[in-house]
Amino acid sequence: MKNIVILISGRGSNMEALIAARDAGDLPINIAAVISNRPEAEGLETAVRAGITAHFINHKGFAGRESFDAALAECIDQFSPDLVVLAGFMRILTEGFVRHYEGRLVNIHPSLLPSFSGLHTHQRALEEGVRIHGCTVHFVTPTLDHGPVIIQAAVPVLDGDTEATLAARVLQQEHKVYPQAVRWFVDGRLTLENGRVRLAADQADAAVMISPEIR
Ligand code: GRF
Repeated sequence: MKNIVILISGRGSNMEALIAARDAGDLPINIAAVISNRPEAEGLETAVRAGITAHFINHKGFAGRESFDAALAECIDQFSPDLVVLAGFMRILTEGFVRHYEGRLVNIHPSLLPSFSGLHTHQRALEEGVRIHGCTVHFVTPTLDHGPVIIQAAVPVLDGDTEATLAARVLQQEHKVYPQAVRWFVDGRLTLENGRVRLAADQADAAVMISPEIR
């Protein structure tokens, strides 16, 4: 069974989707730990309730990114993770940290990258008037919200959408694509080779999810 460590900063609904998939017998993983950089992250309580080891390392207690990332890596490495999953972890990571986990560090971002990297993705999608929006799971590189794409899900932007309705539509898809990406990784069907995603050929179709609202 592969060990995974999940990093969160807040609500933790993507973490919950991974726990639910594991509990349903759909995802053979050992969630070795959940770590938050914010002590008040709601997701920490959820993790504890699920019987998962939970830690917080408050970034405010560190002089800078390098020292925080070093402490974070030390905490993560105690659990010997095969994969480190960023699930709403709201910190920019140093290049050294990212390199240390090369090929075993993934992130989910609420847009169809490379559009709308950074914050407020749903609001910006509405302002731009795009017709299709979505989410992306990718391997992490030192550039923020950038890196080889593993899976994307597309949703329509509908007349009358608000930031909240659009975010909810995207989040529903996030909860599908993240367990899928982790499943591929732990099954050995997904690797990072020379900076490119390598996915088992019979799974390629599943790397594009289209929500049912798109006709
Ligand atoms: C998600 O929209 C994720 O894509 C982004 O941050 C949000 C985290 O939500 N990176 P949650 O904490 O998983 O509920």
